[in-house]
Amino acid sequence: MKDFITEAKKILIGNRKDGYTLPTNNKLYPAQWNWDSGFIALGYSYFNLKFALEEIKTLLRGQWKDGMIPHILFHDLNTNYYPNHSVWACGNKIHSSGITQPPVLAIILKIILDKNKIKDKEISKIKNIIKKIKKYHEWFIKYRDPNNSGLVSILHPWESGYDNSPLWDEPMNKIKVEKNLKYKRGDNKVVNPKYRPLDIDYDRYVTIKNHLRKNKYNPKKLYNKSLFNVVDVGFNSIFLKANKDLIKLLKKFNLKYKDLQKYISHSENKIIKLYDKKKNNFINFDLKNKKKIRIPSITNYFVLFADLKDKKINNKIIKSLKKHNTKGKFFFSSVKPNHYKFEEKRYWRGPIWINCNWIIYQGLKNKDKNFAKKIKKKTIDLVKEKGFHEYYSYKTGEGFGANNFSWTASLFLDLMLER
Ligand code: GLC
Repeated sequence: MKDFITEAKKILIGNRKDGYTLPTNNKLYPAQWNWDSGFIALGYSYFNLKFALEEIKTLLRGQWKDGMIPHILFHDLNTNYYPNHSVWACGNKIHSSGITQPPVLAIILKIILDKNKIKDKEISKIKNIIKKIKKYHEWFIKYRDPNNSGLVSILHPWESGYDNSPLWDEPMNKIKVEKNLKYKRGDNKVVNPKYRPLDIDYDRYVTIKNHLRKNKYNPKKLYNKSLFNVVDVGFNSIFLKANKDLIKLLKKFNLKYKDLQKYISHSENKIIKLYDKKKNNFINFDLKNKKKIRIPSITNYFVLFADLKDKKINNKIIKSLKKHNTKGKFFFSSVKPNHYKFEEKRYWRGPIWINCNWIIYQGLKNKDKNFAKKIKKKTIDLVKEKGFHEYYSYKTGEGFGANNFSWTASLFLDLMLER
């Protein structure tokens, strides 16, 4: 029998560089990515705690003075990736992008610390990590929710981590592409362009990025000025869960937590309102254009991960999740298959992603054990049958995008080895 656990570990080690790990070993993503590193650290924690903590520490070394942790850190400057360090032209200590990604670090660190005993001499280092994560969360509250609405905004589709989701289509359509825009994509030379974002989308991504740069990535200005400003259910669910876990970490290590507690209650009340009970769907807000977005994206169900106290709502949401696409052999498709925006093979517009399954599985463990078990089994079977890919067709299970994908390997390890 094939030893999948050894294979998963090998993938991580194979993608590992000096203190951090690439998302994959091909040329598609030649840098350190924020939420990838979180998931990757969890994988390492099953066989090398030192690598796990190093992954997080390296990411934190790139934290900006204001508290933001960038979505990409460019440790190696000599790559074909676009947009590279020179066009972002920013960073603190390490060249970076000027935007962030879903803040999973507190969540991951809590899981790691719950299952590992930390030596006394390591405690001050861990406290340091926690303080830096707290600063990151405070940055979100201060700059991404300056009106204290209880919900944070993302200012670029890439900040969501589900870069090419149809969730962003309407706000993106409003963006006028910069005149004389000149750049060369790298991604569609490595992966079949049919599975990657369209050129027009890329033009808009780059336009937003350039605009952020022109404004010197100034977080005070950009909440109001950015060309893109969306309140996303999935992103806010991750942030709420991360805040809840951060509080537990702060308490455990006798650090201050009171301010954060207030924000959590506030978010909890607001996030529930993004669920439309009557229509049984979720509302994402395009704040820039003052429009509601209703797309049946699997990321809306991240709300289960946020552990809302309202059981009735949770049960309704679970019922609706069961109708997303659980009848087929493989799930969850990133967009509901009967929706007109669904595409089987283009990334984030239909395929299955292991991190989405993992997040939803975590959210269901304490709410619907049987369903959680089913998700776990399906996810493990998919990887065993098809390999460690970036994403998969929900129809056939076929793998697409990058191979030897780090977070697929990591989260597979977690699903296989968790107690
Ligand atoms: C893609 C994904 C993003 C991920 C990155 C590296 O850009 O959309 O979520 O972090 O690749 O794997």
